[in-house]
Amino acid sequence: MITTDVLIVGSGPAGGAASLFLSTYGVDNIVLTRYGWTANTPRAHITNQRTVELMRDMGIEDEVVGKGTAHHLMGQTAFCTSLAGEEIGRIRTWGTHPRRLADYTEASPCLPMDLPQTLFEPILVSTAAARGARLLFNTEYEKLEQDADGVTATVRDRLSGTTYQIRAKYLIGADGGRSKVAQDIGLPMAGAMDLEGSMNIVFEADLSRYVAHRPSVLYWVLQPGAQIGGIGAGLVRMVRPWNEWLIVWGYDITQPAPVVDEAMATEIVHNLVGDDTIDVKLKGTSVWSVNHMYAEKASNGRVFCMGDAIHRHPPSNGLGSNTSIQDAYNLAWKLALVLNEQASPKLLATYDAERVPIARQIVDRANKSRTQFGQIFRALGMTPDAPDGWTIESRKDDTAAGAAQREELRKAIELKDYEFNAHGVELGQRYTSSAVVPDGTPEPSYAQDPELYYHPTTWPGARVPHCWLTRGSETVSTLDVVGKGRFTLLTGIGGDAWVKAARSVSEHLGVPIEPLVIGPGRELEDLYGDWARVREIPDAGCLLVRPDAHIAYRAFDQPDDPTETLNRTVSALLGHV
Ligand code: FDA
Repeated sequence: MITTDVLIVGSGPAGGAASLFLSTYGVDNIVLTRYGWTANTPRAHITNQRTVELMRDMGIEDEVVGKGTAHHLMGQTAFCTSLAGEEIGRIRTWGTHPRRLADYTEASPCLPMDLPQTLFEPILVSTAAARGARLLFNTEYEKLEQDADGVTATVRDRLSGTTYQIRAKYLIGADGGRSKVAQDIGLPMAGAMDLEGSMNIVFEADLSRYVAHRPSVLYWVLQPGAQIGGIGAGLVRMVRPWNEWLIVWGYDITQPAPVVDEAMATEIVHNLVGDDTIDVKLKGTSVWSVNHMYAEKASNGRVFCMGDAIHRHPPSNGLGSNTSIQDAYNLAWKLALVLNEQASPKLLATYDAERVPIARQIVDRANKSRTQFGQIFRALGMTPDAPDGWTIESRKDDTAAGAAQREELRKAIELKDYEFNAHGVELGQRYTSSAVVPDGTPEPSYAQDPELYYHPTTWPGARVPHCWLTRGSETVSTLDVVGKGRFTLLTGIGGDAWVKAARSVSEHLGVPIEPLVIGPGRELEDLYGDWARVREIPDAGCLLVRPDAHIAYRAFDQPDDPTETLNRTVSALLGHV
């Protein structure tokens, strides 16, 4: 029988990333997918800062960024009657507004970028393979059985029709929104599927004359009919600048799904572009539905689900693939420590505790964003009671009603910040679980809107705040000195007892903990003074940072016996006690 430590079902963003992280940490794994290669349609594309940070930790940031469309070309998002038609409003998205750009660049060493799933997945799986993963294409997962020591999966080679078994210590179900693994292990799901009908039309056409003056990855089309089904409005989305595109157009889910043939697809493209003379080279069409569903539990025994298997929602906010990759990052270091017998299997239970609340949050957020397009349609006179009340001319009137409409429209478009500039949702995840040791302080309150703004804090459970430090002549992010599959202890001048404690606990428990002192004349210096502003601890305190850059433990001063304290803390979070 074929054996492995971790069998991963699915090579999408979740499965591909899980394999990349595990392989980088030296964990033996097999990834299988029912298809002959990775995604053949460019669904996900918005790649948020946290995901780019994870790629940076894996050492492949340059490759990922190099294949994508740069941040400065992403954000002149237009609301128009068609690309050639009247423009109703514009919003600077993904942190490209000068005011928001400061927030985004202050929060991370990486910028958001646009990388279609068709290009991202091959990077994930090929890097994983180069680092030791075994890949099985054309291989379908059929069922699993688990016992006290492992999981036996039955899979079918779709080329030969042969069925065989793979034995693994753990299995990851990263098999997408219709996950059979989640179903087989009986994950409880909340919410509903198939709420709205949507279609994707992928095509090639040179649209540069309609977009060169407002480069963006998204162009929203508002016209009568665009509010039916779909993701709130019609969408023309850049796949590759500026000659490959994807249209999302809705249909009434209470009616049979349309058969999107070439004639229908071309008509929709011409309508949304507003120009029926453009040459359209169709690349593919598909019909899909909008879901609002998340798993209330993400694992059962030795089987862990991630990605769309546990969160199913519309693409609004661009959170699907990002969250899938981030799920994998959360679980991978825990599996590595458990498989190396450095942590108790109890550590794995923290995956559910930490990621299920995120699944729920993003499913709710994405669906709310979808419905918030309704405000724009209402401002344009189209309400459920007056579906034919569409008026874009009255907003030009020199009347009180015209002024009121202009203001209502401006506010309705501003509300879309919650979809396109939700920095807090993208970067502000804080965990509560037994792999985080509270320090007795209350969770810091949010000074600004928690969805729109990221609030850096070193409160245990939060991601370590980014700021630039120096190491000799090199400028490095705090995120560059943590991660890499190991714990890091950050302290300052006067924290030498913590350094000694980290070395001693690391040796005693057999778990890598890298102590780093930040201060004048030490290996890392805070020349800009930014670390002193964000660290929220005095020089002689310490932060213990997990391999996924979240803070496990924070101390404001030194206890009588730092080694004993740290030993107790690390043992507890690894599930040894
Ligand atoms: P995914 O569905 O991608 O992969 C599932 C994998 O499992 C595949 O490899 C499949 O072959 C395999 N599989 C399934 N069943 C199997 C079986 N029985 N045996 C073997 N293999 C099996 N997200 C985002 O972050 N930013 C964005 O901008 C967008 N935009 C976007 C636009 C549109 C139009 C859509 C429809 C979606 C998005 N998304 C997005 C969402 C994103 O595409 C989605 O969240 C991810 O693909 C989910 O990744 P997973 O790996 O979980 O599943």
